[in-house]
Amino acid sequence: MGVRAHGPTFSSCMVFFMAILAMASATSASLEVGFYKESCPSAEDIVRNTVSQAVAQNPGIAAGLIRMHFHDCFVRGCDASVLLNSTPGNTAEKDAPPNNPSLRGFQVIDAAKAAVEACCPRKVSCADILAFAARDGAYLTGGIDYQVPAGRRDGRISRESEALANIPSPNSNAEQLKENFTNKGLSLDEMVTLSGAHSIGRSHCSSFTNRLYGVQDPSMDPAFAAQLKATCPPSTASPSDPTTVVLDAVTPDRLDNMYYWNLLKHRGVLTSDQTLEESSETAKLVWYYAEDQSTWAAKFAAAMVKMGSIEVLTGSQGEIREKCWVVNA
Ligand code: HEM
Ligand SMILES: *[C@@H]1O[C@H](CO)[C@@H](O)[C@H](O)[C@H]1NC(C)=O
Repeated sequence: MGVRAHGPTFSSCMVFFMAILAMASATSASLEVGFYKESCPSAEDIVRNTVSQAVAQNPGIAAGLIRMHFHDCFVRGCDASVLLNSTPGNTAEKDAPPNNPSLRGFQVIDAAKAAVEACCPRKVSCADILAFAARDGAYLTGGIDYQVPAGRRDGRISRESEALANIPSPNSNAEQLKENFTNKGLSLDEMVTLSGAHSIGRSHCSSFTNRLYGVQDPSMDPAFAAQLKATCPPSTASPSDPTTVVLDAVTPDRLDNMYYWNLLKHRGVLTSDQTLEESSETAKLVWYYAEDQSTWAAKFAAAMVKMGSIEVLTGSQGEIREKCWVVNA
């Protein structure tokens, strides 16, 4: 990937000596914007820098980071549990089928963490770095910028079974998705809004080949189905097959409301996408967001902040991991 971790420099680390002041906020029980302004004032700049370089080389990384934050937050809250490696005797979330092999961008989080650690050792959690990085992905691909309340702490547990139980399936219908998001404190509107993230990034064929073969899904435009079949022959139905397609064929690298236009044209890639246009309860929202990019973008930012607060560890809970892929010794 060639993501460079920046070493400490005067400008990136100059307020390092004020770290002591951060002790006061470290006991705070809720997330706050500017959480690191004393303990690591350059943290967000460092993360944005690292993400910018990675996305400049491969825009798909932005999609990977946004999805990674979602998959972190839906499993044990936003505690960086998705970043932990499996260990002897424990298969971690990272290796659960919804994440392996499709989740990408881990090396960018590791590079950002290394650069942040070089300035302010053991101050900034991996969970916050991931939340910042997801925001930076949204900014770089969609110009959607927002302040990220921080102060998350890192968890010490990561289980494959919990990823399977909490990450919604792409075969879900709107009713099921509504329930899955409600379980995490997110509304139907927020579910539809956040699904707009599928206006960037890619899907492995195996996530939707069930719509193409056997009985072809009648909710998919046949011309679009033919296009997908050309890229995804039946042999790609195996999850280990590496073939992917873009989720938004019109503006594949632009985080925008084109996703909703695609749904109106029956060109949603996943069942969980097209169902939002099929179900009357969500169809209204699909129309609304298709017609209003700026409202969607503002709601997307707000919904990302809300998603980013799911079941967070704060104060003295958890730890500040030293390396994002392993718990502290
Ligand atoms: C509504 C329920 C959701 C389901 C069922 C779902 C499912 C999926 C699936 C199956 C993929 C393709 C994975 C692959 O096969 O490679 C995917 C990709 C993606 N998802 Fe979702 N997703 C959902 C919601 C979300 C949310 C809430 C976000 C973030 C806010 C998100 C962000 C993404 C992104 C950015 C990608 C592209 C990833 C890449 O290119 O690496 N998804 N999703
Ligand atoms: C989503 O909700 C459906 C319907 O209640 C349920 O069967 C399914 O297990 C849920 N999935 C997740 C990942 O929460």
